[in-house]
Amino acid sequence: MITISAPGKLMLFGEHAVVYGYPCIVTAISERLEVVIAQANDMPDDRRFVDAAIAVWGAGRDVKLSAKCAFSGKYGFGSSSAVTVATLKALKPDADNRMVFDTAYKIVLDIQGVGSGFDVAAAIYGGTLYFVTGGKTIEPLTVGDMPLIVGYTGVKADTKTLIADVAAKRAKEPEKVERIFGAIGKIVDEAKIQMIEGDWERVGRLMDFNQEYLRDLGVSSEKLEALIAAAKAGGAWGAKLSGAGGGDCMIALASPDMRQAVEEAITKAGGEVVWVTPNAEGVRVEP
Ligand code: MEV
Repeated sequence: MITISAPGKLMLFGEHAVVYGYPCIVTAISERLEVVIAQANDMPDDRRFVDAAIAVWGAGRDVKLSAKCAFSGKYGFGSSSAVTVATLKALKPDADNRMVFDTAYKIVLDIQGVGSGFDVAAAIYGGTLYFVTGGKTIEPLTVGDMPLIVGYTGVKADTKTLIADVAAKRAKEPEKVERIFGAIGKIVDEAKIQMIEGDWERVGRLMDFNQEYLRDLGVSSEKLEALIAAAKAGGAWGAKLSGAGGGDCMIALASPDMRQAVEEAITKAGGEVVWVTPNAEGVRVEP
């Protein structure tokens, strides 16, 4: 019997633009998904990812496994990519990270049809990553304690539809959308530098800029805007949506002495504060 766990993720900068070849920054979070091989109960809701992983690396073997997720699928923390990664690693514990990435990314793309693979990379490598589409670059960033606050909107994001909406906008207004993507790419590069320096106030300001462009792309929502505005009014350095938009979570950065006020402001605005620690370890064999 072997137990493998993989972390969930939060997109910090660069969503949507990353689908078109620009960089993003993602952090792995403390909430983990666990796969145990050799038991056959308690399967995850969406078995397709597990079955696909078994078809690739477990063919001809009598594989029975169960999966347990410490976080609800509702938050958009990446349970599909985490379960794919954990299952592959359970089937081949010695496989190196690149091999797991290429195989898991292919599975996720086959099933979902779209995606940059940033969530797969976070599940495998953990930590905080500077990532370029399809894993062209997967660069671990050495960052200190990130004063991150996460607020859930209560609304499930429809990632596929949002990606399609952005694609439609890009087809209609190619220059405008490319300009937005280019600007987001520059914000990501600047955020990378400031995160390594630990200048969280500036990183917060960069979140605000990134959010303006996401708003222009049309992927924000009233609820996200309400929580972001509340976090800012509560004293956050900056705030933005995280992920595809339309719902799921927003993130904010705030000094430790403002943390409580920001969390209360998010709650008062109708959000649910989700306590997660960023920069978590990647996929691992559990003792
Ligand atoms: C979704 O969480 C983030 C997107 O950039 C899609 C992706 O990168 O796979 C919209």
